Amino acid sequence: MNNLESKQKVFPIFNLDDLDPEEFVAYYLDREREIEGQINEKGAIKFRGVQVKSLESFQFIVDSVANKFLSYIDGNSPRTKLSGNVYTSTEYDKTQKITMHNELSYSAKWPNKLFFSCLQPAETGGETLLVDSREILGKMNPDIVSEIESRGVIYFRNLHGGMGMGPSWQDTFETDDKVQLEAYCKSYSIDFEWSENNSLRLKQPSKGIIEHRVTKERVWFNQIDQFHPSHLGKDIYEVMSTIYTSAEEFPMYVTYGDGKPIQEDMIHEIINTINDITIAPPWQRDEFLIVDNELFGHGRNSFTGDRRVLVAMSK
Ligand SMILES: [Fe+2]
Repeated sequence: MNNLESKQKVFPIFNLDDLDPEEFVAYYLDREREIEGQINEKGAIKFRGVQVKSLESFQFIVDSVANKFLSYIDGNSPRTKLSGNVYTSTEYDKTQKITMHNELSYSAKWPNKLFFSCLQPAETGGETLLVDSREILGKMNPDIVSEIESRGVIYFRNLHGGMGMGPSWQDTFETDDKVQLEAYCKSYSIDFEWSENNSLRLKQPSKGIIEHRVTKERVWFNQIDQFHPSHLGKDIYEVMSTIYTSAEEFPMYVTYGDGKPIQEDMIHEIINTINDITIAPPWQRDEFLIVDNELFGHGRNSFTGDRRVLVAMSK
C-alpha cells in the first residue's frame, strides 16, 4: 500500500461553500444532468464542503439525489444496517485491507451507484480505495481477459445457518424465511442447495466482463480474486485446506464457467495488475462521494483509530 499517494489520479472534486444538506440537494438537482454526465465519464465524483454531520443528513441527501435504493441483500461483507438503506460501509477487521471489488458483481443484480460519506476519519489509513474498471481491462494481460470473457465464471458460496466461518444465509439475505430466500434465488437464476446442517450452497454463473449500462464501454466487473482462496495468503489458504475437504466447500470459491479451476498464478497476476492502478484518496469530514459501481471498483485500506464511513447504494 506504499506510494499510493504518488499514483493518485484526479477524479472531479467540487469544493463547495459549506452547504447544509438542503442547500446541497438544491445545488445537486440544479446541475443533475451535468453531474450525471461527469459520473458516466469519470466514474466517480466528490463534493467537499457538504455538511454531512450525521446519519440523518446522509440519509436525507441520498434520498433526495437518487431515485431507488438497494438494500445489501445477498452481500458478502459484514456491515450494519443503520436506517432505511444506509449501512456502515463495512465492519471487516480494521487491520486488514479489503481488496478491490465491484459491489455485488457476483450477484445477478448490483447497484449502479454507491454513495459514501465519512463521519469520522481514521487516525491512519482507512481510505476508500478506488480503481477504474476500464483501466483494469486495458492493463490486464490480454490472455487473462480472453479466458474470462470466453469462459465466464461461476461463484460459489457456502453460507452457514447460524454457526460457522463466514456469513450466515440469514444475515446475507436479511431473512429467516427459506421460502422467500428460495424465491429470490429462482428469480435471479442462482442455483441453491440446502444441506442437512442447515447451511446453504449457492452457485451463480457470471460474465466477469460486462458493458457499461449507459456508455456500453467494456469494463472489468468481477470479484474473481476476492472469491479465490489464494487471495487470503499462503498461510490462511493452507489452514483452510485442512478444515475443508475441497475448495468448493470454502465459504467462497470461484471457477471458470465450465467448472474448471482458475490457476493461482492468474489470481496473483489479477491482484497485482489491479493494485498497481489503485488510488487511495484520503477521507475528510464533510465530503460526499458518488461512485459508479460499474466504472470503478472499490476497497478499504486497513486503518488505526475509529473510523465511521456510511454507504448507500442505488439503481
Ligand atoms: Fe464494497
